[in-house]
Amino acid sequence: MKRLLATLLLAAWADAVEVFVMLGLDAVTQSGDLKDPESLRAQLQQLKSGSADGIMADVWWGATEPTAKSYRFDGYKQLVDMCKSIGLKVQLVTSFHQCGGNVGDTCDIPLPAFVTSQRDIWYKDQHGHEDREYISLFADNVTVEGRTPLQMYSDWFNALSSNFAADLGSVIEEIQVGMGPAGELRYPAYQLSQWKFCGVGAFQCYDANALNSLARAAKSAGHADWSSPPSDAGDYNSHPGDAAFFQNGYQSDFGRFFLKWYGDALLQHGAEVLQRAKQAFGSSGVRLAGKVAGIHWWYKSDHHAAELTSGYYNANGIDAYDSISAIFEAAGAGVDFTCMEMADSEQSADCASGPEELVKQVMAATASHDIALGGENALPRFDDTAYSKIESYKSGMQVFTYLRLGNDLLNGANWNRFQSFVSKMHSTLSLIV
Ligand SMILES: *[C@@H]1O[C@H](CO)[C@@H](O)[C@H](O)[C@H]1NC(C)=O
Repeated sequence: MKRLLATLLLAAWADAVEVFVMLGLDAVTQSGDLKDPESLRAQLQQLKSGSADGIMADVWWGATEPTAKSYRFDGYKQLVDMCKSIGLKVQLVTSFHQCGGNVGDTCDIPLPAFVTSQRDIWYKDQHGHEDREYISLFADNVTVEGRTPLQMYSDWFNALSSNFAADLGSVIEEIQVGMGPAGELRYPAYQLSQWKFCGVGAFQCYDANALNSLARAAKSAGHADWSSPPSDAGDYNSHPGDAAFFQNGYQSDFGRFFLKWYGDALLQHGAEVLQRAKQAFGSSGVRLAGKVAGIHWWYKSDHHAAELTSGYYNANGIDAYDSISAIFEAAGAGVDFTCMEMADSEQSADCASGPEELVKQVMAATASHDIALGGENALPRFDDTAYSKIESYKSGMQVFTYLRLGNDLLNGANWNRFQSFVSKMHSTLSLIV
């Protein structure tokens, strides 16, 4: 009796967390059609039978705006209608990045030809290597064929909003606003063609617009001599010990100036894109969110090297995730954060990886700004250890999006474990033991 009482006292009410499942990257093809509607329908019906709340789909820019200002959303319309008839909700990602080139990418949908044909609007590293996955934020105000990239994003948001007006805020529960590579608000500092885990990555500010911006900022700081990025930050695959900038350069006056300029440019870009999304979707009742990358390697070092090259200035006493949460709060958007399945103990100690501490920092930042936090797993996992880790964050999350739909998820023991995970995320009773 005593033991029973103790257990009851330790039970608390918890909010249910909705579970969404990401569709395959190539569910809609480059020509804008559903790849295989019949097998997709069967998979969605199974998800529904397993009590999943909905699905997430990338809406590829390269598939939906074949020529400037002419939009086609037919495949996505068919998808939303299918979900509606089955009783699943939808999260749409406005994917202004290319499909292909990231971990697990099984597709190849470049950006629209009217932008890929342009020069000098791409992120560039110190070697002059260009990345065409997403337009450089430093080109946000550059006119390309009559429009700036920010105007293109805005026009596209408006097109999506009018095409899906009837379903926004009902079937379509959330729009995740793409703001960079892989849809995440970050620089492409760890491109898979150049980088392997756990290199520090590379600063991406060597295109002409970036260098001009840096020179202007240096001048107004009264330090015209600070007009170039650090030359001692190593390369994609350097470890921090091999790069003076991550030893102590980041703490110098120049280091602080540079990192603030680089990080602020990313924040400004996020604020500008989110603002345009808010204008297009604000009155529809749909929830807005944006993806923030889970850069957990070198997190446990003072320099936070990998976060720095990606634009997250999370060192020298500055809380990058607080700054990011502030701009999301201003736009009424939530943060969608990954690596919720990772345990520190599963990571190699050589990379000072701290996924658990990182998730906690992001949770604290979003909570202090009173914005919603959505979770994702970074890598495919089907095991109870990963599910338990995700469940342990339940009280800090509003929604979880599972990566990803496929036959390996829908069969045998994997499917049983997934159903049990969904039921735990839905449960409003949590035993604190
Ligand atoms: C673009 O213009 C806006 C406002 O005019 C400005 O705040 C922003 O910093 C500019 N962005 C870039 C990358 O130059």
